[in-house]
Amino acid sequence: HDLYGTARANSKGINLDDRPQLDALTQALAQQQSKIWDLACLVSGARTGGDPMAVKSPTDHTETVGTIRPALVTDREAALKAALKAQQSWNRLGGKARADILRKMGAALENKMEVLIGLMVREAGKTLSDGIAEVREAVDFCRYYAMQADAQFADPTPLPGPTGERNELMLEGRGVFLSISPWNFPLAIFTGQLAAALAAGNAVIAKPAEQTSLIAAYATELFHQAGVPGDVLHLLVGTGPEVAAPLVEDERIAGVVFTGSTETAKIINRSLAARDGAIVPLIAETGGQNAMIVDTTALTEQVTDAVMDSAFGSAGQRCSALRILCIQDDVADDVIHMVKGALAQRTVGHPGDPVTDIGPIIDEQARAGLEKHIARMDKEARFIARANLPSDLQNGTYFAPCIYEINSISQLDREIFGPVLHILRYKAEALDSLMDQLAATGYGLTCGIHSRLEGRWNSLFEKSMAGNVYVNRNMVGAVVGVQPFGGRGLSGTGFKAGGPHYLLRFSIERVRTVNT
Ligand code: SER
Repeated sequence: HDLYGTARANSKGINLDDRPQLDALTQALAQQQSKIWDLACLVSGARTGGDPMAVKSPTDHTETVGTIRPALVTDREAALKAALKAQQSWNRLGGKARADILRKMGAALENKMEVLIGLMVREAGKTLSDGIAEVREAVDFCRYYAMQADAQFADPTPLPGPTGERNELMLEGRGVFLSISPWNFPLAIFTGQLAAALAAGNAVIAKPAEQTSLIAAYATELFHQAGVPGDVLHLLVGTGPEVAAPLVEDERIAGVVFTGSTETAKIINRSLAARDGAIVPLIAETGGQNAMIVDTTALTEQVTDAVMDSAFGSAGQRCSALRILCIQDDVADDVIHMVKGALAQRTVGHPGDPVTDIGPIIDEQARAGLEKHIARMDKEARFIARANLPSDLQNGTYFAPCIYEINSISQLDREIFGPVLHILRYKAEALDSLMDQLAATGYGLTCGIHSRLEGRWNSLFEKSMAGNVYVNRNMVGAVVGVQPFGGRGLSGTGFKAGGPHYLLRFSIERVRTVNT
């Protein structure tokens, strides 16, 4: 079995540089632009929930994307009971049959690529290129975990039997998993969590971020159409405190997979620890205080491109995004000059427009948090630049990307989740101490290094706490199976999503010994 998938190919998506492909996509999106979606919770495959609530677009608050029905307490109980009942037969179905269903889901996502991109543009403010990348990642997760289900969950592994006994090791699902997924990758992370939990033989109750419930509901329907039984996968829409918290506290939930803030992960962890009954796993992928280190041997143009992608791509709303650009002081003015020039060239605009580089922020609350941060930066840091915000965007939650120079990492007491880049100059002799300070933040997600010196990559790799280190390129957009993704410490529990060991956290090991 190919555990690492070295012979796999990743999904191809749409090439926006190819005019006919771009035209076909923009036409398909234009046709959907006025569609009003009508989706709901899914319990045992049936649509359910309370009164429909309007979903507004972050691109324009006057635009209704559709309606969604939030979960009722009775939906929660019904979902849990049905999932508990169905999990064993899903587990017994075996890794091969589950893998076939996940591969069908991968194909369904590819077939519906334009619909999914259109929905992500409107509900999540994703740009076209981010939307394409996200569908590809979701497809890759389905295929990659299908491959893992084939490799690890299909047949028992024979073990030595020195005394004549027959020993076999097997992996099985743990029970009913709760998936709590974020709005910033409303399709890829949602699908990835579900595909992993399902591949390993678990039933799943999914609680997606309330900001992006429509995408999750649509994807859940695709899972069901691909062959995941309605009793095995349920979708409950609503807020964390109302819908997820009571399930986290419920002893019948056998594990939680969560992507979101470090604070929320800690609340979930405490809540799991406080309950009676079994000790169950929390698989958490959380925030970062991600730095890029640039020394005097770095190529300035390469650094500039990498900084633009890493700090401002996806409007900075990635846990992997660059937050602190650390530049050796001898070259700092040159790099800052280039980065400032590049920011001025970036287009902030409607995410469905192919010329847009940076779309909106997810919601008003997120924007208010960013405005508060930069009000503080205006007082405590040196202002470097801010992009232009076209005046026709005032109906959406847009935020002009900006750059500040700080004097110390301690000026940033938390992760700033948006398009705000902080620059920090360092002296060559202070590089070790800078790495110590970065490690002392407790986060360890991504790190970028720009240097031509191999010795420097190696020593910075050793000193960095980051789970994903990128040398002489951008530091975002980990590819499934190619750059398994995830961090340590305040950034998450591991194992890495899209990596060969991820499914182990969702499973239990059993050994059968037969005295023949
Ligand atoms: N997996 C995404 C990335 O690598 C993160 O959030 O950018």
